[in-house]
Amino acid sequence: MSDTKTDTPKKLFIKTYGCQMNVYDSERMAESLEGYVQTDTAEDADMILLNTCHIREKAAEKVYSELGRLKPLKDLKPDLKIGVAGCVAQAEGAEIMRRQPAVDLVVGPQSYHRLPQMEARLREGKTALDTDFPEEDKFAHLKGRTGARRAPAAFLTVQEGCDKFCAFCVVPYTRGAEVSRPAERVLREAQELVERGVREVTLLGQNVNAYHGDMTLAQLIRALGKIDGLERIRYTTSHPNDMDDDLIAAHADTPKLMPYLHLPVQSGSDRILKRMNRSHTAESYLRLIERIREVRPDIMMSGDFIVGFPEETEADFQATMDLVEQVNYGYAYSFKYSTRPGTPAASRAQVDPAEADERLQRLQALITRQQRAIQESMVGRDLSVLVEKAGRNAGQMLGKSEYLHSVHIDNSTAQIGDVVPVRITRAMTNSLTAREL
Ligand code: 5AD
Ligand code: SF4
Repeated sequence: MSDTKTDTPKKLFIKTYGCQMNVYDSERMAESLEGYVQTDTAEDADMILLNTCHIREKAAEKVYSELGRLKPLKDLKPDLKIGVAGCVAQAEGAEIMRRQPAVDLVVGPQSYHRLPQMEARLREGKTALDTDFPEEDKFAHLKGRTGARRAPAAFLTVQEGCDKFCAFCVVPYTRGAEVSRPAERVLREAQELVERGVREVTLLGQNVNAYHGDMTLAQLIRALGKIDGLERIRYTTSHPNDMDDDLIAAHADTPKLMPYLHLPVQSGSDRILKRMNRSHTAESYLRLIERIREVRPDIMMSGDFIVGFPEETEADFQATMDLVEQVNYGYAYSFKYSTRPGTPAASRAQVDPAEADERLQRLQALITRQQRAIQESMVGRDLSVLVEKAGRNAGQMLGKSEYLHSVHIDNSTAQIGDVVPVRITRAMTNSLTAREL
């Protein structure tokens, strides 16, 4: 039953798919909708928003299946409003409402600052569609981060969009051209987050290290480092070609910058990298990591890989396996190539799907071996943990190490938001156990 009293907040359920930027966007959308409180059950909601991902085919299809599941809810509760936001909204636009008439609202990632006006249209019984790339800066039209106390680790978008046009990727089409937020606004938002209990920010951008909002990313990181109460800084995702000397230097000279770097390479074969339009080679990537490790030997490397890209041969795939062996990743995300309509690679000769599956399994087995070995090498080491929540067992707290591993601290006296020194006592499959020092 929807609420008819105007002074009782309505309930908003947001389901977020895809990347960390979508997590950030969902928070900002929720904050922008005054008169709503968030609920974590769709059945309770007056409005359901799906914040969607279009990066791979499966991600997009999931959205239509979810909409199909939500339709009966709307049949029972005709006042329920259903909206689709994010990259599927951007890519599909009005097609979503044609395919699923239960949808009332479609809003793209660059126009969600207009959600309050769109919601007003819904209250008049109309539908609302906005997939513009507006002139105005959406961030300038969103309220400050002045809400309730927050979890200690937060995302903060500093850059959006991509000008790189990798041949497989929809991002330049769904998120648009590279845009950087002014440094002063980012600093203000970080300050607001710190005032609400945040101790760690992860700066987000599709090409975060191409940030050029009147400072470079390295300069922005150093400026953030001066904010009292902000203990940790991370950034993601970076492109190898935008990893400049000063950013590498920041890993040595800025103690609050955590020793973790997500630096996707996608393939270890120069022939495939060229076909992907990556404009770097396997060798230049390996050399870059060497230079980073010269200044920060303990840096934890993370990467993304695509297997079964059109025309990939067994020899090309072996080159990827060799590169992974050489880098030794703490984390790596690998995907089977997924054809994205409108991208240059979509019309090329596809690799046999069974072959691609088999390669993916081999790559993932290698990555898992590396990750486990690195995790086990943490046992006996003294690390620091940002405490994020209580653990499952009594007296146990749960947080993240500087290398982003999840750490359970036994018999802890720490509070949420503390950064505590610990000694790692045990490595489990997906986390570490520690005691406080
Ligand atoms: N198919 C498979 N994986 C893809 N990625 C991007 N586009 C595709 C695609 N068409 C992967 C890349 C990227 C990560 C976010 O998703 O590895 O770095
Ligand atoms: Fe996509 Fe390539 Fe841009 Fe990353 S750098 S968002 S993979 S086009």
